[in-house]
Amino acid sequence: MNKDFLCLSDWSFDALEKIFALTKDLKSRQKAGLKHHLLSGKTLGMLFEKSSTRTRVSFEAGMFQLGGHALFLAGGSTQMGRGEPIKDTARCMARYVDGVMIRTYSQQAVEEFAQYSSVPVINGLTDLYHPCQVMTDLFTVSEHKQNYRELCYCWIGDGNNMANSWINAAAVFGFELRVATPEGYAPDAGICKRAADAGARIFYTNDPREAARNADVLNTDVWASMGQEAEQQERAKAFADFQINMQLVALADPDCVVMHCLPAHRDEEITDEVIESRHAIIYDEAENRLHVQKAIMATLMG
Ligand code: CP
Ligand code: NVA
Repeated sequence: MNKDFLCLSDWSFDALEKIFALTKDLKSRQKAGLKHHLLSGKTLGMLFEKSSTRTRVSFEAGMFQLGGHALFLAGGSTQMGRGEPIKDTARCMARYVDGVMIRTYSQQAVEEFAQYSSVPVINGLTDLYHPCQVMTDLFTVSEHKQNYRELCYCWIGDGNNMANSWINAAAVFGFELRVATPEGYAPDAGICKRAADAGARIFYTNDPREAARNADVLNTDVWASMGQEAEQQERAKAFADFQINMQLVALADPDCVVMHCLPAHRDEEITDEVIESRHAIIYDEAENRLHVQKAIMATLMG
């Protein structure tokens, strides 16, 4: 078994399906009010170098529900924020806690941290990936639709951390994925190549309508991610044609579902009307962060 959860393509389909099975079990136990203290007495350290609502709250509440404890460390408040080497921070934290969740900029930093950490490390978002979110998204689709691996998924918008993780997921889970991005905003070329080499069924286009036609799942994210705020205006121009609105939804399967990892900029990348429509499964998606991450933590730290 893997020590860490850094990137979906490090994991096999069978191992990720086991996490889904555990998620289902933990979610039903929580809904029934049954104790599920799989991490009793254990501590998760949470290092955040970027903002968060869902990730922080779901990991912290999740650890509590598992009988453990979570420790919130804002980037600027640690010695790492003042330049202490990652390898020293990683080795010391592993002497105190049973697992670490990190949200930061560079994927390389998370990988270096994991290399020096003797306890499991979970990627809570980097510029390159957001694996916990995409695991959650797939679990959420599986709750709403039969045979989630046989559906047609599409990504509309920026070729960002979410898009890259969807590409990895397409390679591991085998579903069809269509990726529509504006020119110049394609997903990471190395990730696309590795997915293609692994036999992934991914179709790339610059036309959101082509991607959305008859699709079962429409997915998007903000046009400027954390760290790209200065590019907001320039990006708004480049992405103007990539909004998920009712016209785009009308091209997809009549029972399509619409997802967004949140936070959303309503009436930019997705209209308010779509978020409030019967197609959106966005708040189930947000809730499931809790259940899926509990299963990931129990798997790695149990
Ligand atoms: N989707 C997500 O990761 O949300 P936060 O940035 O609020 O954690
Ligand atoms: N792509 C977004 C996701 C936020 C959860 C970002 O990185 O800011």
